[in-house]
Amino acid sequence: MENKVAYITGGTKGIGLGIAQVLHDHGITVAISARNNEDALNVAAELSSADAPVFGLSSNVRNFEDEEKAVAEIVNKFGRIDYVIANAGVGIFKPVDELSLDDWSAMIDTNLNGIFHTLKASVEELKKSEGYFITISSLAGTNFFEKGAGYNASKFGAVGFTQAAMIDLRKYNIKVSTIMPGSVATYFNGHTPSDADSWKIQPEDIGQLVLDILKMNPRTLPSKIEIRPSKPNS
Ligand SMILES: NC(=O)c1ccc[n+]([C@@H]2O[C@H](COP(=O)([O-])OP(=O)(O)OC[C@H]3O[C@@H](n4cnc5c(N)ncnc54)[C@H](OP(=O)(O)O)[C@@H]3O)[C@@H](O)[C@H]2O)c1
Repeated sequence: MENKVAYITGGTKGIGLGIAQVLHDHGITVAISARNNEDALNVAAELSSADAPVFGLSSNVRNFEDEEKAVAEIVNKFGRIDYVIANAGVGIFKPVDELSLDDWSAMIDTNLNGIFHTLKASVEELKKSEGYFITISSLAGTNFFEKGAGYNASKFGAVGFTQAAMIDLRKYNIKVSTIMPGSVATYFNGHTPSDADSWKIQPEDIGQLVLDILKMNPRTLPSKIEIRPSKPNS
């Protein structure tokens, strides 16, 4: 995996940070983005080692132009992109009759339009590198639940989008997968991780899963991966 470059959206916290840490620890050059520029720069500086700097950028995946600019900056800095992890996402959980237009837009624009923006901005680079595009969707992309209408819609869409993209892009030797986690100990939806979250998947577990997927034999493609806590809390 020497000389490989990974771009992770939403890489300053939670799952994205867990993926960035594991890939960086395994010698992959890492770029992370988030809306908060200060966080992106600080987290990149913390992750960086003397011989392997991590690049932090600000991008809002809701804006295609931001993603285009982020990809251009990464290619300008490192010359290529091999792995793109479309991870940035938000969740707002309310009964459907209480869901506002802004709530709906925040989830669809980030969790669904956002992964399309990230793919569209990077796909020509992935054709050159014969790379890998991974989305972090959710078990909410296959299991619907109370107060989940907007989030379920965005994640069901994300799973369908990723699988169709997998079929379209494999002729270019680009692999495409979606990871569908259950509960992960992150800052998602205003949560603060604590000791009480020890039963949950930890962000570095998703990082390890991404690394394992990237290391699969080139003849194999694990296209849709569900991962859940082995011992649920209830
Ligand atoms: N936690 C879970 O249990 C769980 C389970 C299944 C799936 N997921 C999915 O995992 C992904 C990551 O969530 P997480 O749990 O790690 O949440 P988190 O701890 O809240 O981290 C979210 C990250 O995404 C960034 N982000 C949010 N909106 C963005 C936007 N519009 N543009 C760019 N970056 C944005 C945040 O930074 P800024 O705020 O600075 O932008 C942050 O870096 C999401 O897609 C989520 O749906 C989470």
